[in-house]
Amino acid sequence: MRGADLIDIKRVLAGYDLDDLSIATLGSHSALQILHGAKKEGFRTIAIVEKRRKWFYEEFAHLIDQMIVVDSWRDVASKDVVLRLRESNAIFIPHGSFVEYIGLDRAESMEVPMFGIRSIFRIEADQRMKMDFLAKAGINIPREYRIGEEFRGPVIVKFPGAKGGRGYFIARTKDEVRRGIKKALEDGLISDEEEALIQEYVIGVPAYYHFFYSPMLKRLEILGADIRYESNADGLHRILPFVRGEIDVSFVVVGNVPLVLRESLLPKIMRYGLNFVRYSQERLPPGVIGPFCLESVIRDDGEIVVFEFSGRIVAGTNIYLTGSPYSHLYWDEPMSVGRRIAREIKLAQEEGKLDEVVT
Ligand SMILES: Nc1ncnc2c1ncn2[C@@H]1O[C@H](COP(=O)(O)OP(=O)(O)O)[C@@H](O)[C@H]1O
Ligand SMILES: [Mg+2]
Repeated sequence: MRGADLIDIKRVLAGYDLDDLSIATLGSHSALQILHGAKKEGFRTIAIVEKRRKWFYEEFAHLIDQMIVVDSWRDVASKDVVLRLRESNAIFIPHGSFVEYIGLDRAESMEVPMFGIRSIFRIEADQRMKMDFLAKAGINIPREYRIGEEFRGPVIVKFPGAKGGRGYFIARTKDEVRRGIKKALEDGLISDEEEALIQEYVIGVPAYYHFFYSPMLKRLEILGADIRYESNADGLHRILPFVRGEIDVSFVVVGNVPLVLRESLLPKIMRYGLNFVRYSQERLPPGVIGPFCLESVIRDDGEIVVFEFSGRIVAGTNIYLTGSPYSHLYWDEPMSVGRRIAREIKLAQEEGKLDEVVT
């Protein structure tokens, strides 16, 4: 049995003073946005920070009521930190770096009420399960190939647990795929060639959509979209004639660029978001809660191909601290995703339904 099945968050919540909640997160990724939003909605805030970054978060002391300093991220799920969070009636907000920093098992079994569903962590951690989830939800995904299979056009080869696309490579032929996988085995990146996912490299414009499903309002909101700026993929075109074939392409995220979509693309994007919500409710009841992101490439004929998802707040939302053109359509006030999370907690708190937004 997994950690997530063993813990009883409802029991922890029963011990909370529900009129005196705090919102807590890890000092990284989208923490400043989350803390800022929590403050705007009137919550007390807690930042768990690594010792080496404490000085940086102290610069934002006006957003942080309590700082819990850890020597390393591994200590986040320790008894001591968990108890301190519970003493402050903390709701923990997992963001995109949470599982990566503290590890899947510890993340799943951390005994603090978490905004969102933790059952999705394990699916996200596995490339194949992730793609299978999207396909079953009725979302268009890239073609997948087996080792040795012929293909047309470039493929991208992905490994499990790769951070920021590190270790991924692009190949033009099945022999290049074989060589790359052999090297990954030698380098210890994978222990079995079956772990490599060989995917059609979709040519088009990358676009990432920020969704928020509200169990309180029973609606899906699209709160923004971005393009991820990735090194060196996004730098190569500047000197393409010079580097053609001489440099390996990599996808380390350096930042995000705002994107407003053609309105005629929105219905399809919204349909994908709704499909995701519906399938998550079937497969992982009660289904997705709060922010999630679909990562796609849009081809020249308008086809949208989704190559991954994130079940939590993504860093691309940091662009919209004061709201996005989309968030204004729903809220007409500066509504970041961080603030939207706090708003949902507030709505749940007011209706005595906090147990419907945390797991
Ligand atoms: N099938 C694909 N076609 C085109 N580009 C892709 C594809 N899959 C991934 N990419 C590019 O590689 C980057 C990293 O891939 P992703 O699967 O999102 O891994 P990570 O887990 O590191 O975020 C993406 O942000 C995108 O730019
Ligand atoms: Mg990604």
